[in-house]
Parts: sequence; C-alpha cells; structure tokens
Amino acid sequence: MAEQALISADYQPAQDAFDGRVILVTGATGGIGSAVCRRLAAAGATLVILDKDLKALEALYDRIVEDNHPEPAIYPMNLEGATFDNFPEVAQRIREGLGRLDGLLHAAATMGKPAPIELYDMETWYKTLQVNLNAAFMLTQACLPLLRESDQGSILFTSDASGRNGRKAYGGAYAVANAGLEGLMRVLAAELAENTSVCVNTLDPGIVATGLRQKEFPFENPLELTQPQQVAGAFLRLLGPDGRDCHGQALSVEPAQA
Ligand SMILES: NC(=O)c1ccc[n+]([C@@H]2O[C@H](COP(=O)([O-])OP(=O)(O)OC[C@H]3O[C@@H](n4cnc5c(N)ncnc54)[C@H](OP(=O)(O)O)[C@@H]3O)[C@@H](O)[C@H]2O)c1
Repeated sequence: MAEQALISADYQPAQDAFDGRVILVTGATGGIGSAVCRRLAAAGATLVILDKDLKALEALYDRIVEDNHPEPAIYPMNLEGATFDNFPEVAQRIREGLGRLDGLLHAAATMGKPAPIELYDMETWYKTLQVNLNAAFMLTQACLPLLRESDQGSILFTSDASGRNGRKAYGGAYAVANAGLEGLMRVLAAELAENTSVCVNTLDPGIVATGLRQKEFPFENPLELTQPQQVAGAFLRLLGPDGRDCHGQALSVEPAQA
C-alpha cells in the first residue's frame, strides 16, 4: 500500500484564519464533528451545523454561543431519509442566510453492521451507502456553486483506512462507502483542478474514541484511545488558508500529543 501523507493535529491556525468564513459540517454533533466545530468556531468561523438529532444540535449551539464564538446556524437533517430536493435546499438556505460558503466537512457516518458480504443485510447496505456515500455526493454537488465563489473553498471527506486498503474483511457497506468516498474525491479533484480554487481531500483520523468506534468495538476502553480533540487540528488545517497546498490527496491524521 502507498504511504499516506500525514497532517499534524498540532496545527494552530492564525488568529484571524477563519474570520468571516462559513463552514458547513455534517455529523456536527458526533465525536469528531463536534470537536472540529468547537475549534473552528474558536478560530472565528461561522458554522452551519448539520446532524439528525435536534437536541444534540441545540446543545452544541449553546456551547459555541456560551464560549462567545460566532453564532452557528442549526440544520437538522436525517441524511438517511433525505430526498434529492433536500440537498439543493441546504445550499439555497445558506446562500440566503449567510451569503457564502467556504468549507464543507463531511463527518456524518453510520457503521452499518459489520458482517461478511455473503450474508450482508440488504436494507443495512442501502441505508449505510445512502448516509455515508450518496448523501455526501448530493450535498457536495449542491454546495459546489457556492464553494466556487469562495477564494478558498475546501471540501473535506472524513475517510477511514478501510476505504483505502480495501481489504477490511467484514467491514461491509461502511468500508465500501469509504472506498467510494476516496473515488469521489479523486474524480472531483481532477475536475476541480482547472479554473477553480476549490480544494478537495480525504482525511483518515485513525482510531478515535467516539460513538461510532464504540459501536464497532463495545468492549474497548475509550480512555485508552486518541480523543476527538487530539485530531481536530488536522481538520482545521485542511479547511482553512493553510490547507491550500493540499488537493486531491488521501491524508491521515498525526494526532496531537496533548
Ligand atoms: N472514530 C473513529 O475511530 C473513526 C475512524 C476512521 C474514520 N472515522 C470517520 O470519522 C467521521 C466521524 O465519525 P465519528 O467517529 O465522530 O462518529 P460519531 O460520533 O458517531 O459521529 C457521526 C455523526 O454522524 C451522525 N449521523 C449518523 N447517521 C446520520 C444520518 N442519517 N443523518 C445525519 N447524521 C447522521 C451521527 O448522529 P447520531 O449520533 O445521532 O447517530 C453522529 O453525530 C466518520 O466519517 C467516520 O467514518 C472515524
């Protein structure tokens, strides 16, 4: 397997790096999503936080506002049941409400049910591919016109080693969706390379203590794993002005020490 380029999570953006920038984050209330949102907001970004649980979104909103960071916009949306029309609506509402979009982080995912392909449950297959791959494609497509208008548009797909080496037995639809995200990123990167300043990359956070990880490995001690805040800095680097040197790359996080 080719060596993966590492992005250090020790990255600290300049104080004004995200001032006036609008970033849409899916899976915003998840382990990694919320850690990245809080860092982005602290760096001055105005966030559109999208997830399926309204209460969790409101709790994240409260934390960001209590910390005196720019007020985020809440976008409750269940990606599993979303229809074709719902994705252009997201972009339209961002255009009307905030007037711009500078970054799109895809951090929503469901684990599906790890099982051999031979026995894989068809309904779980469809749902997992819908949330993890199809929704990411549809939202990206809908947001591209806005991102093209930014002088530093960035699209970041959160990926997983299972999507890169393609050899994770029993990874099922989750692993296949991640392989699809890698392919989507590469095709899109080639298309965006000319006449646009939009960067697109994938980032594998490594093993991180989140709800998703807990679902796959319920007997693991989360305190012994890398914590979400230890990977967040790498996401900021790729979503901001210092990520302009990365385009079309499958990157991995080098966790922060603290
Ligand atoms: N944690 C790891 O070790 C690890 C390793 C490699 C890659 N990743 C990637 O990191 C990203 C973030 O995952 P995480 O580890 O932070 O897991 P997480 O805490 O479970 O976050 C995922 C988020 O996506 C949301 N989501 C799930 N289904 C959705 C739907 N139908 N509509 C809208 N939102 C939905 C979840 O909401 P609910 O909580 O309400 O279900 C949750 O807030 C994912 O792309 C994952 O593949 C994680």
